[in-house]
Amino acid sequence: MELGDVQRVAVLGAGNMGHGIAEVVALAGYDVRMRDIEEDIVRKGYEEIAWSLEKLAEKGLIDQDPEEVLSRIDTAVDLGETVSDADLVIEVAPERMDLKREVFAELDDLAPEHAVLASNTSSLSITEIAGATDRPEQVVGMHFFNPPVKMDLVEVIYGDETADETAELAYAFVEAIDKTPIYVRKDVNGFVVNSVLGPFGDEAAWMVSEGEATIEEADAAMVHRKGYPMGPFELSDLTGIDIGYHVRKEAGKPIPPVVQEKVDAGDLGRKTGRGYYDYGEGDGPTYE
Ligand code: 3HC
Repeated sequence: MELGDVQRVAVLGAGNMGHGIAEVVALAGYDVRMRDIEEDIVRKGYEEIAWSLEKLAEKGLIDQDPEEVLSRIDTAVDLGETVSDADLVIEVAPERMDLKREVFAELDDLAPEHAVLASNTSSLSITEIAGATDRPEQVVGMHFFNPPVKMDLVEVIYGDETADETAELAYAFVEAIDKTPIYVRKDVNGFVVNSVLGPFGDEAAWMVSEGEATIEEADAAMVHRKGYPMGPFELSDLTGIDIGYHVRKEAGKPIPPVVQEKVDAGDLGRKTGRGYYDYGEGDGPTYE
């Protein structure tokens, strides 16, 4: 399959990353079907896209009518309906290997034979995910960053059996949606970006857990002294504290107590209204 053959894209997940990816793909002119396991989640994701498109249009950051972009996005709950005519499927399920493998096994039965199956996993092995299918050569990693509409980079990851043709198609597709792809040729845990970013978050979480710094101090140090756009805790609130939690669990790493406490309390970051900071009316990080 070549880039020109990609007409319909299915995005499996309507949470932060799923709806952001669906938005970016629709902005590039593709027809997208966005799916999640519950009607409410899909509706919320669709509303977030509508909000984001309005915001981008208001600021003159896009020159398309938001309604027209939205008209290219269909929603669904049924997996078969979502992928039956897809040329490219981008899976954005929670960061657990058992779930990913379950989804890919189903995809193998339900998606057209020619379809490329991509995973937006943050760190899990593409080889192991692909092993749940009978077409591992058509499985590839396509890792976006949060928020997809603003972040330019996308990692295109080879599993051990990914065909060059598949990785090249994924790479060309990323360029076609106006993002910048990089190849990750070794299927290492965390790929390139999260391998580097992991210790940044981990070190800060252990320092806070051991009383060596406060959340605000750690974030302020990186923002004001190091010029990062966000400190590690604010970033974790943006990406979802549960994501980092599952990434550590799947990699067999110990969980810093400050992370465990937030997960136990269900305070997972912006998406739940509270994480390391509160995101009520007018709130947000207070360290500035
Ligand atoms: N769509 C449209 N507008 C949006 C938006 C969206 N999805 N999200 C936020 N905005 C709006 C805000 O509402 C705000 O609007 P306002 O100005 O009207 O109040 C505005 O964008 C925010 O703009 P700012 O000028 O404050 O911020 P910037 O646009 O300059 O930067 C940022 C925002 C790009 C998020 C920047 O803070 C940043 O780069 N942060 C780091 C992000 C990062 O590193 N992401 C990667 C995380 S790792 C990851 O995703 C890997 C995964 O595997 C876990």
